[in-house]
Amino acid sequence: MRLFSVRLIVSLIFGVTLVSLGFSYYEVVGAKRRLRADLDRRAEVLGESVAGNVERTWELGSDRDLERLVQRFGNREHLLGVVVYDKDQKLVAITPELGKVLTAVSPAVTQVLAAHHDQAAAARLGLMSVHILALPLHRNDELIGVLAVVHDANYIREDSLRVWRAAFWHISVQVFIIVLVTLLIVRWSITGPIARAAQWMRALRMGHVCSRQEMPDLDMFRPLAREVATMALSLNQARNAAENEARLRDAAESQWTPERLAVHVRTRLAGSHLFVVSNREPYSHVRNGKSPHVIVPPSGLVTALEPVLDACGGTWIAHGSGSADQETVDAHDRLRVPPDDPRYTLRRVWLSKEEEDGYYYGFANEGLWPLCHIAHTRPTFRADDWQYYQDVNRKFAGAVLHEIEDTPNPVILVQDYHFALLPRMIKENRRDARVAIFWHIPWPNPEAFGICPWQRQLVDGLLGADLIGFHIQSHCNNFLETVDRVVESRIDWEHVSVIRRDHRTTVRPFPISVDLTDEDSTQHANAGIAYLESASLMRALGVETTFVGIGVDRVDYTKGILERFLAVERFFDQNPTYQGKFTFVQIGAPSRTHIKRYHDLLNEVEAEAERINWRFQAGKWKPIVFLKRQHSHEEILPYYRIANLCLVTSLHDGMNLVAKEFIASRHDERGVLILSQFTGAARELGDALLVNPYDIDQTARAIRVALEMEPEKKQLRMQRMRRVIKEHNIYRWAANLVTELCEIRLDPQQEHEKIRANVVVA
Ligand code: G6P
Repeated sequence: MRLFSVRLIVSLIFGVTLVSLGFSYYEVVGAKRRLRADLDRRAEVLGESVAGNVERTWELGSDRDLERLVQRFGNREHLLGVVVYDKDQKLVAITPELGKVLTAVSPAVTQVLAAHHDQAAAARLGLMSVHILALPLHRNDELIGVLAVVHDANYIREDSLRVWRAAFWHISVQVFIIVLVTLLIVRWSITGPIARAAQWMRALRMGHVCSRQEMPDLDMFRPLAREVATMALSLNQARNAAENEARLRDAAESQWTPERLAVHVRTRLAGSHLFVVSNREPYSHVRNGKSPHVIVPPSGLVTALEPVLDACGGTWIAHGSGSADQETVDAHDRLRVPPDDPRYTLRRVWLSKEEEDGYYYGFANEGLWPLCHIAHTRPTFRADDWQYYQDVNRKFAGAVLHEIEDTPNPVILVQDYHFALLPRMIKENRRDARVAIFWHIPWPNPEAFGICPWQRQLVDGLLGADLIGFHIQSHCNNFLETVDRVVESRIDWEHVSVIRRDHRTTVRPFPISVDLTDEDSTQHANAGIAYLESASLMRALGVETTFVGIGVDRVDYTKGILERFLAVERFFDQNPTYQGKFTFVQIGAPSRTHIKRYHDLLNEVEAEAERINWRFQAGKWKPIVFLKRQHSHEEILPYYRIANLCLVTSLHDGMNLVAKEFIASRHDERGVLILSQFTGAARELGDALLVNPYDIDQTARAIRVALEMEPEKKQLRMQRMRRVIKEHNIYRWAANLVTELCEIRLDPQQEHEKIRANVVVA
């Protein structure tokens, strides 16, 4: 670094000096030229006036008159004197000062005698620089002599020297300032940040820092720093994973980690590739001012699958719905994600407005969503929507077939109710593909499902898959009963599978989960910090309170948000001492708002929060804070961490990952989960306070129980729930799904024979 500074400074001194000298040189040359021209002019004017007078006096007067005349011109500015020669170069008259220094006849005088016209010349008289102008003297057109006007030109040299002296001082001051500034910049912006980065990396190597937040500010090296931070994070993760793996091995535990899943999936895929298909994409780009801005859409499916793809790599095919999505893909509609640490490929599929309306808003969300959720919103089935649903499924099938073109035996995980027809469409073209579809929402009983005019086609499409997954066993049972009633098939109850047209589809429950692996000791919150964090978070919302409840949902009628607000109201009615002390924060991401039911619900939720606030709020306290916008995971985490309780009151929910996320975030083992008994999660989380969300009194009582629960009891419940989720985390979910799918035998001939054998035996 010292050598770099020396090089930089020497180069700067050299450059600055060279440039300044160049400018000074031009200034000196210019000034000299100006002064000389000025002297020429002055000499000419004087010469002409003196010459006229000399000619007249020479003609009429004596030599003494001439001498006197000449002496009259002796005291002009810079004039050294004048001298008159006759045509034989004999001196006729001279001013006394000039007489003292002039020793010889100037060549200019000789030239005038020869050429008969003016001559100007620079000459030296001893140490003095002089300017001589020689002019011919005439009488009746006859040359009679020469007049020489001699000026002292030393002042021109002195002027140049003055300019050079000034230039010297300018250059010195400039060089000093530039060197000083350069040294400071080098220190502040280069050596300082590098030293800090080196210190940070050393600390990282020794395991003293563990997250990218702790990275020092590296000024202009920020882009580099980001890369280093990401690398550091990976390094840290790798170290943690290795330590964790060793710890697990030591404790003979069988916890699933991203690394273990990656190895497991690689082994199972045996050189093949993993493909995920979903409607919702994991990252979407939206226009925010000039540049596209990345957001992670609010979706349980995305929350669950993102860590899986992060760990295993692969290709995720999804609808590109962001306003700037088209600008951020390559020529094949692909991009690598996560944007700041790419690990897998996202392939976007484009839909027209009409397709999105018919397939997504229409058939999927006005038809299948209310059909599968028993939440008292009537499904709407339109033939046009159904047509678009089929078309879009076909479009996605085309995209999938294109992506798997060069991959033998691809493993494809289709997601959710948007793609019931996709499994068959893929399998019909690629029998070597292993296709699973995971249904993230409930499957209702056959009577409820039976109102769908296209139930047969939907079930048939699903049965194209090799494996169908639901969150819980009762959804599997409902599905099998629906199959039994709707299509021609044989149900193998022993292996829980369906055989239709020589093809076997296995049906299994895979309770989806979140990413909760090892205990990162740095994340353990301490009670004091949580208290301060809570106060500052609530202050930012303009509220002063003692206890906080949290709810996080897409604003969807299945989530029971209105019922939750009513329960909060009932709680205050029944427990007035808590007025002024408990605030419920509802984070609500607007969702599917083009559908009238959702649009209306958003307004209803807002109005209900306002109504309850109006009833109870006092001073700086209010009972409900409704935050109506999508929040990132990082924004939600602090609320989870400070909350005394989390309310999940879905009227019907396949799983509900908010419940699991809340538990995963509670490293402090505090906080109480109040959970609807109608969620899939309720089957696993027996230590939550289970409620029927339709029973407003019961939920209100649960809020009080949660707030007044003994700390030890809270901790015990939280510990048990964390253990469940750690044990059944998202990596185990993916491992089970992939294992099950890869164990299915695909050979159609053998499968056919097996099926026939089973039929004969039966
Ligand atoms: C549920 C569905 C997901 C969906 C999510 C968000 O969790 O199972 O498939 O992505 O809701 O809904 P959206 O319509 O915004 O994707």
